[in-house]
Amino acid sequence: MSDDKKPSSTPTENTQHLILTGDRPTGPLHLGHFVGSLRNRVLYQHQYQQYIMIADAQALTDNMDDPAKVHNNVLEVALDYLAVGIDPSKSTIFIQSQIPELTELTYYYMNLVTVARLERNPTIKQEIVLRNFERDIPAGFFTYPVSQAADITAFKATLVPVGDDQIPMIEQTNEIVRRFNRLVKQDILLECEALVPEIGRLPGIDGKAKMSKSLGNSINLGASAAEIKAAVKNVYTDPLHLRVEDPGHLEGNVAFIYLDAFDQDKISLQEMKDHYVRGGLGDSKVKQRLEAVLQDMLTPIRERRQEYEKDRAQVLQMLKVGTERAREIAAKTTDEVKAALGLKHF
Ligand code: TRP
Repeated sequence: MSDDKKPSSTPTENTQHLILTGDRPTGPLHLGHFVGSLRNRVLYQHQYQQYIMIADAQALTDNMDDPAKVHNNVLEVALDYLAVGIDPSKSTIFIQSQIPELTELTYYYMNLVTVARLERNPTIKQEIVLRNFERDIPAGFFTYPVSQAADITAFKATLVPVGDDQIPMIEQTNEIVRRFNRLVKQDILLECEALVPEIGRLPGIDGKAKMSKSLGNSINLGASAAEIKAAVKNVYTDPLHLRVEDPGHLEGNVAFIYLDAFDQDKISLQEMKDHYVRGGLGDSKVKQRLEAVLQDMLTPIRERRQEYEKDRAQVLQMLKVGTERAREIAAKTTDEVKAALGLKHF
C-alpha cells in the first residue's frame, strides 16, 4: 500500500498513545482483516507504540475441541503480519498464552463485573447464537470480555483498533477500569478508546455481509495467483445486470465494493462506475480490473510471506522476543493491581 494513504480513522495526534490490538489465531488472515485492521497497523506503527497480540488463549474459548488448530495458526498469523509489513522492530508482536499475568488479571477483574452485565453484552449474545451454544456456553467464552479488559489494561493501552463488533468489549473494559480505580482510590488503570476503521467490514465474494474463512467466501492474504483469479471470477455483482447494455447497480455489488477498498486510481474508477450505471459495460471488464488490482496488491504480500515461511524458526524467535518484552509490561501492571488489592505479602 502506498504510504500516502492515511488510516481511515486517525486518532488525535499524540505519541504518548499506546495501541494494543490482536487477532484470534483460528485460520489464515484474509482481505477482510487487511481492510479492517492490518493495513492501518502498518501505518500506526510509525506513530505509536504498538503491541499486537496473537490471542491464542481467547481463541480456545470457542475452540477447545480443536487446540491443535489454534496452535498451528499462531505462526500462520505471525507470517501474515510480517507479510503485510508489520515490522517487529517497530511493533511488538506477542503470544497471549505466554503471559500468565493476563490470566491473573482476568481472575481479579472477574469480580468487577456481574453475570447480568456479561449477559447484556450484545456481541456475546450474537456470538452465542452464531455458534449454536444454546445452553452450553463455555464459561470461558462467556467471560472473554473480561479477559480482553485484562489484555488492554495490562499494557495501559489508550487506543484499541478493532472492528465495530468489538465496541462492547471496549465499553466493558472502561467500566472495569472505572470500578477498579474507584475501588482502590488510585488511577492505576487507563481508559481506552476504540479506533474503528471506516471500511470496517468487507463482504464475502458471495455478497454475504462478512468475509469469513468458515463461510468459504474469503480471499486469503497468501492466496496464489490462480486462487485470486478463481475468486474474482466468482465475485457477486449485480444479478439484474444481464446484458452488457443494461444499466448496472453498484449497491451490494462486491466487485465495486472491493475496487473501492483497494483501487488507488479513484478518478478512473469513478468513470468506470458511471459507465456501469449508464449501461454498456460488462461485468467481465469490471472483474478484469479487480483482478489486476488484487494481483498487484497481493503478489508482493505472498512473496514476502513465502520468504518468511522458509525460516519459521526465525519467526518463532521474533515472537519470543516480542513476548518477553510484552510480559515485562504486563507484569508491572499486575504488580500494581495486586498491591492495590492487598495481594502483596512478601
Ligand atoms: N476479540 C478480538 C477479536 O476477535 C481479539 C482480541 C483479543 C483483542 N484481545 C484483544 C482485540 C484485545 C483488541 C484488544 O477480534
